[in-house]
Amino acid sequence: MAEAPVGVFDSGVGGLSVLGEIHALLPQESLLYVADCGHIPYGEKSPAFIRERCVAVAEFFREQGAKALVLACNTATVAAVADLRERYPDWPIVGMEPAVKPAAAATRSGVVGVLATTGTLQSAKFAALLDRFANDVKVVTQPCPGLVELIETGQLHSDAMRVLLQQYVAPLLAAGCDTLILGCTHYPFLKPLLREMIPGNVILIDTGAAVARQLQRLLEQRGLLASGPALDTRFWTSADPQHFSNILPMLWKKSDNVSGFVR
Ligand code: DGL
Repeated sequence: MAEAPVGVFDSGVGGLSVLGEIHALLPQESLLYVADCGHIPYGEKSPAFIRERCVAVAEFFREQGAKALVLACNTATVAAVADLRERYPDWPIVGMEPAVKPAAAATRSGVVGVLATTGTLQSAKFAALLDRFANDVKVVTQPCPGLVELIETGQLHSDAMRVLLQQYVAPLLAAGCDTLILGCTHYPFLKPLLREMIPGNVILIDTGAAVARQLQRLLEQRGLLASGPALDTRFWTSADPQHFSNILPMLWKKSDNVSGFVR
């Protein structure tokens, strides 16, 4: 059982930023990745729809023998993690949420910006996160429709991306934010471009590494850490496998084993 793979899931390529952290921390783990690109963007979909997709992917991973599930998606986590944990009580499930706690600890100006999807920012789970960890700081939120779609086409530096990102970041800087939370797993791929746009003292925080550590803890507690060697990572997408194969080398090490995922 310990040598079984871990299933990692996102609406698209964003979760590859988390997959990279998991692979770096736990190189002995075999990984499976589903990108539900056929239904992107989750950030503009209803929680009920996202829950349905999450169950379909979870069932697929269970058929593949996955020993654990990582929701490498903030939007899917706020919509579905509670439901999934109820459905599969004995299955280790790691979710993720915007890094409000570390950002509140890091800010010096006392103003923190959150870039995330509309779905994440509108959720009760996010409101609860602010209630819990952001009492002493001001939090300015910025939904970012359109970013995910551009990232999905590999536009990490295009003019269109630059214009849109500038539009989202400018109000946060104007509000005095010195710490920006990247609250969607697609956004870490924009760090190089963001760095060109923001002052050097502004801190960027994302949660990929923390998710990898949480997965490590859960596997350890249950005696499920693999000793390796890991099998090649396998990828599935609910959109065009060829497109995913083309973009994969830009965001992951190589472009092997991409299959269609139909549910
Ligand atoms: N990557 C997802 C997240 O972390 C959302 C992308 C989407 O809107 O599909 O929130």
